[in-house]
Amino acid sequence: MQETILNVENLQVSLPTENGPLNAVRGLDFTVNRGEMLCIVGESGCGKSMTSMALMDLLPKKAQCQADKFEFLGQDLLHMPKKTRSRLRGLNMSMIFQEPMTSLNPSFKLGDQLTEGIMTHQHISRKEANERAIYLLNRAGVPSPDERLNQYPHELSGGLRQRIMIAMALMCEPDLIIADEPTTALDVTIQAQILVLIRELQQEFGMAVIFITHDLGVVARIADRVAVMYAGQFVEMASVKAIYSRPQHPYTRGLLNCIPIPGKTQSGQELATIAGVVPSLIGTPQGCAFANRCELAKKQCCETIPALEQREGQHWVRCPVTLYPVKEAS
Ligand SMILES: Nc1ncnc2c1ncn2[C@@H]1O[C@H](COP(=O)(O)OP(=O)(O)OP(=O)(O)O)[C@@H](O)[C@H]1O
Ligand code: SF4
Ligand SMILES: [Mg+2]
Repeated sequence: MQETILNVENLQVSLPTENGPLNAVRGLDFTVNRGEMLCIVGESGCGKSMTSMALMDLLPKKAQCQADKFEFLGQDLLHMPKKTRSRLRGLNMSMIFQEPMTSLNPSFKLGDQLTEGIMTHQHISRKEANERAIYLLNRAGVPSPDERLNQYPHELSGGLRQRIMIAMALMCEPDLIIADEPTTALDVTIQAQILVLIRELQQEFGMAVIFITHDLGVVARIADRVAVMYAGQFVEMASVKAIYSRPQHPYTRGLLNCIPIPGKTQSGQELATIAGVVPSLIGTPQGCAFANRCELAKKQCCETIPALEQREGQHWVRCPVTLYPVKEAS
């Protein structure tokens, strides 16, 4: 039996704007098991980062966050004292951001930044903390790791800085790492190396990872399970195998048509696009948020918001139109 470490029900995040509340996250339900890689995929502005910020307790001050259940390691994240939450974030949960320079302080040496968290939370000596940092930098593929401790962030390339961030996220041996578009700012060859590294380290250290991306090609390489997000909601959630072999939601199918699939897409074949634009997240839509872009939309799609329903196995879909009878993917 797999251990559930994160259990979220009806997570909602809204931000006040001049035109009314912007509902960035509109009722997410999901769990994450120990040691699994859950990929959240969706286009720009669909609420991926707001979800990760809600988990890390790093939302903008004016944001409102609520949930029916928001449990990490059996503890209620919403109602615990700030100090406990911050300790949990330092010790058991960590984050890798898209651009390392936003989380690395340019005026401190990397050694101090790598060891600060573990020295605060685990009260180990500077020598032990440095040894762990050197070990993890080595594992993260950083050459001459001991010399890096005395360097400043600006002295390294983008790829090396991201490796440093990965080592930093592992310093306290967290149960969960949230990686928000960690490879988007890197060029393609470095991106591939970092993906392999994250997958290897995740399996070696047995932690769970929530990997956020807009790129289904990335998802195929690393995910165990995939949640497809659209306009603040999950529209489909299933194993990576099921998402690629039997996508159910018209949005997921549209996304898959936009990327080349090895063995299926022919050389020179034009890739599809999804016509139309994402609806405004201000206020509450009347019906299905995808209706204005969906080729299968019917009158009733614009009247009621479809629920995320379980099909066979652990395949969840927010669309009552069954595209295929779902069988376990072969
Ligand atoms: N500080 C803020 N104040 C008001 N609205 C915000 C703020 N930050 C983000 N938003 C809005 O919240 C919605 C969700 O944003 P979010 O950053 O979570 O999207 P995302 O899926 O991470 O997109 P991307 O792929 O571009 O990173 C968007 O409509 C965005 O414009
Ligand atoms: S509910 Fe209707 S509009 Fe929404 S995805 Fe399904 S068919 Fe399309
Ligand atoms: Mg984002």
